Amino acid sequence: MPVLGIDYEKCDNCQICRFACTRYFRRDKEQNKVVFEDPNNLCDSCGRCIAMCKSDAIIYEDVGELLTFDEVQDPSKLISYETIHKFMSAKRSIRGFKNKKVTKANLEKILDTMKYAPTGGNIRTLHCTIISDNEKIKKLSEVVMDAIIASSNPRYSENFIKARERGIDTIFYNAPHVMIIHSRNPGDAMNSTIALTYGMLCAQSLGLGSCWIGLAHGVLSANKELREEFIGKNWHVLGVIILGYPTQIYYRVPPRPDIKTQGLDELE
Ligand SMILES: Cc1cc2nc3c(=O)[nH]c(=O)nc-3n(C[C@H](O)[C@H](O)[C@H](O)COP(=O)(O)O)c2cc1C
Repeated sequence: MPVLGIDYEKCDNCQICRFACTRYFRRDKEQNKVVFEDPNNLCDSCGRCIAMCKSDAIIYEDVGELLTFDEVQDPSKLISYETIHKFMSAKRSIRGFKNKKVTKANLEKILDTMKYAPTGGNIRTLHCTIISDNEKIKKLSEVVMDAIIASSNPRYSENFIKARERGIDTIFYNAPHVMIIHSRNPGDAMNSTIALTYGMLCAQSLGLGSCWIGLAHGVLSANKELREEFIGKNWHVLGVIILGYPTQIYYRVPPRPDIKTQGLDELE
């Protein structure tokens, strides 16, 4: 959505754009108007100017849907603290799934929420691979398990070996989908974590369960051939989750320790 300039027919000279973005908007005193200047094409297309302009006077390259629901002005109207606190504290790692695939439409909803996650410098270079073929998931699970058994101390790997002998999938828990987030930009590590967190919360709103699979992330990161087989060439793997309809039910939220915080005591 690169910004192209200002439509002065619409602009009411309120100047909010230059407060939204002090880098590329400036007030031209002689002309008594704001001008957009980005000679080196450095604007990161964050869209703040577009989002804050009441007159819709920012001209930009149209690269997608612009959401304009009423509550966009005050998102706190969409959901109360109590509801979001309950929703987020009730989010558990799910490790048991129904033998039922998630519809493409619901997976698209999850991806459509993930795309609104913040990223450093508004750089949007994340990619996603969804594996839904049971045989492929089983194969990846086996390879991950082999790597863990080979690399961990015997006390840790013992449980994996026993579970495997009993035919239990201790990597993906027979989930119907494995979602891998990857990028060619190594700087995407934090961005991917935030995007997946958005995705998992969105999934919960659709009745789906999810779980981070750090074990698969670690093995995929360390194994080029595996990455190429399951994702393609030259990718950094930045996160792996499983998704599906949960069979596990939680009746209460387990306790969590408070986050030790400095700087609160001096506040009222
Ligand atoms: C970075 C990360 C990696 C994780 N890797 C795994 C994993 O490989 N397998 C697994 O079963 N759970 C994994 N988990 C889930 C954690 O075990 C789980 O979040 C934690 O025990 C707290 O439980 P809760 O998510 O239900 O609150 C991972 C979680 C995170 C944040």
